[in-house]
Amino acid sequence: MSDGFAGFDLGTMSKGDSYKLLASVILPRPIAWVVSRDEAGRVNAAPFSFFNIVSSDPPLVAISISGAPDRQYKDTLANIRARKQFVVNMVPEELAEAMNVTATNAPVGTDETVLAGLELAEGTAVTIPRIVGSPVALECEVFEVLEPGGASTIVLGKIVYVHVRENVFEGPDGLARLHVDPTQMRLIGRMHGGGGYCTTRDVFTIERKNWPLDGR
Ligand SMILES: Cc1cc2nc3c(=O)[nH]c(=O)nc-3n(C[C@H](O)[C@H](O)[C@H](O)COP(=O)(O)O)c2cc1C
Repeated sequence: MSDGFAGFDLGTMSKGDSYKLLASVILPRPIAWVVSRDEAGRVNAAPFSFFNIVSSDPPLVAISISGAPDRQYKDTLANIRARKQFVVNMVPEELAEAMNVTATNAPVGTDETVLAGLELAEGTAVTIPRIVGSPVALECEVFEVLEPGGASTIVLGKIVYVHVRENVFEGPDGLARLHVDPTQMRLIGRMHGGGGYCTTRDVFTIERKNWPLDGR
């Protein structure tokens, strides 16, 4: 008898269906807009939503990069393997279309930041540029590259330097207190289907509670 839940055994599902299901229910996902350079120094940019911060001590991000149908690796992964550095830029609403342009499967060596009309600034701790229009950029060095055995490679990056646009801090002492107003960053997240996104402006707060709960 049905309990009102559909059950899925991922071991018996096709990889395509498994991706479709997981990418539709694990929501919203932050988007790492990754800038990298190839061995010749050419810049590359592409978005990745199988991404998150996975540790603050050490400060680590994880990005899952799937196989490339027409080349050995997606350019981002080839570049990260070659240079051991990359920059994760967070995506604001006003650059959503530009981010989507950089997701095209352009020929190897194409600088998608030019295609998308993006302004870049040189990195501080790495030799990879960041996207100026992004309110947050995380300069990363490769910590570890994991090959879990399927089509995806997981890159663990150690954040070595962070850029945050000053006007996203809350109030006059926001910078000193490291209080960021997320609604000022206007970041987008990845949602369902081929082209679903959300904004991060619909926020609410819940105060953390100490034990005992309400005198219980
Ligand atoms: C919002 C968004 C999220 C994406 N997330 C991923 C991801 O997590 N992993 C992945 O392999 N590809 C992802 N892609 C597809 C890549 O961006 C795409 O394959 C891109 O062409 C890779 O570029 P590159 O070859 O220059 O690295 C995503 C695309 C979009 C638009």
